[in-house]
Amino acid sequence: MSTLQHQHILLAVTGGIAAYKALELARLLVQAGAKVTPLLTKAAQKFVTPLSLQTLSGSAVLSDLFADAEELEIGHIRIARSADLVLTAPATAQALSRAALGLATDYLGTLYLATRAPLIFAPAMNQAMWLHPATQDHLATLKQRGAIIWGPEEGNLACGEEGPGRLLAPAEILRRLEAYFTARSSLKGIRCLITAGPTQEPIDAVRYISNHSSGKMGYALAEALSEAGAEVILLHGPTSAPPPEGVTRYLTPSALEMLAQAKRLAPRCQVIIGAAAVADFSVKNAAAGKLKKINLTHLELRPNPDIIAELGQAKQKGQLVIGFAAETERLIEEATRKRKEKNLDWVVANQVNQVGGVFGAEENQITLVQAHGAEEWPRFNKKELARRLVKRIANHIQAKQKGEA
Ligand code: CTP
Repeated sequence: MSTLQHQHILLAVTGGIAAYKALELARLLVQAGAKVTPLLTKAAQKFVTPLSLQTLSGSAVLSDLFADAEELEIGHIRIARSADLVLTAPATAQALSRAALGLATDYLGTLYLATRAPLIFAPAMNQAMWLHPATQDHLATLKQRGAIIWGPEEGNLACGEEGPGRLLAPAEILRRLEAYFTARSSLKGIRCLITAGPTQEPIDAVRYISNHSSGKMGYALAEALSEAGAEVILLHGPTSAPPPEGVTRYLTPSALEMLAQAKRLAPRCQVIIGAAAVADFSVKNAAAGKLKKINLTHLELRPNPDIIAELGQAKQKGQLVIGFAAETERLIEEATRKRKEKNLDWVVANQVNQVGGVFGAEENQITLVQAHGAEEWPRFNKKELARRLVKRIANHIQAKQKGEA
């Protein structure tokens, strides 16, 4: 049975020559058991008729032409809430920019804003339009927000030019959708604990010791774990990163608070990830009031507990415990040492002085250190990197379950 069975897909067709391929895509989706709600923009109707799309998808076509003002307002909210996925294929440069900029100028634009469903775009356009910095900027914005972009392919374009701009074949889009929905349930029944962000160790009522962590990597991981169907418990320090959807969160401002919650919750979890940049020291006798600066020239520090090391040492059979390593020198050596000393299964090693930076950056390049060796990964957007790490986790758990069966 296809993993698309009973999935509600909103198929948005935007106005390019490749729009005719959306008819075949709609047919394939319906054949695979998906419920398809098609949407045709005004421009797309110059290339395909609502009637053909309606016939192939088995559902009435949403479009601005047939919607009065009231339907525009209510309809997009209702549809936006009920879809499991919004797939835009083909996605024109205009559709990408509308989604990136949040321009609610038509039905599709309002829908992009109203939906909480994941967005997948399969772009198709002239190669110069694709390569234009404006389009590339919009793509980067969409990726940062977690959107998935499939294609375009290189080849002969309808305009007679050659280059990247061809819509992926409908069969290829279908194959990717099936893999996507498989991944969405790959961690069903698995409970994960993840620490993220910095901790703040108070000095007095107004000052603290902390670090540059933005929490973005840990949050992206929490979100990707949840997208894969896992139950996710997130312990995080103070951060301004937007909170991930669908996870249980506990704010644990200091290392000791994070440790207490982690020890309480870890025994119930199958996967434990330490992505937090825990401050290494806290201040002995932190003051309840504000200290005078004259008294701040010497602080008495005490080492904080190593949270992931404690969880690693207490590891139960079947638990997968993953730590991070932030290094500026001897990356692999240090990550390997931390893996052994903290009794971790994997370490995600981060060269924090890499080109483009890590702290607060949208991208990250890691090396995955496991018992059998180190594997250098390319630099990815943090959301994409998180999805890839989660895929590894799911594969690992599935392989173990098969081995034990
Ligand atoms: N970590 C932790 N508790 C601490 C310090 C670190 O749980 N008190 C975890 C981090 O979440 C990360 C891993 O340990 O998963 C490695 O953190 P890192 O800052 O790279 O290294 P440290 O072990 O603190 O060592 P050092 O600062 O000397 O490199």
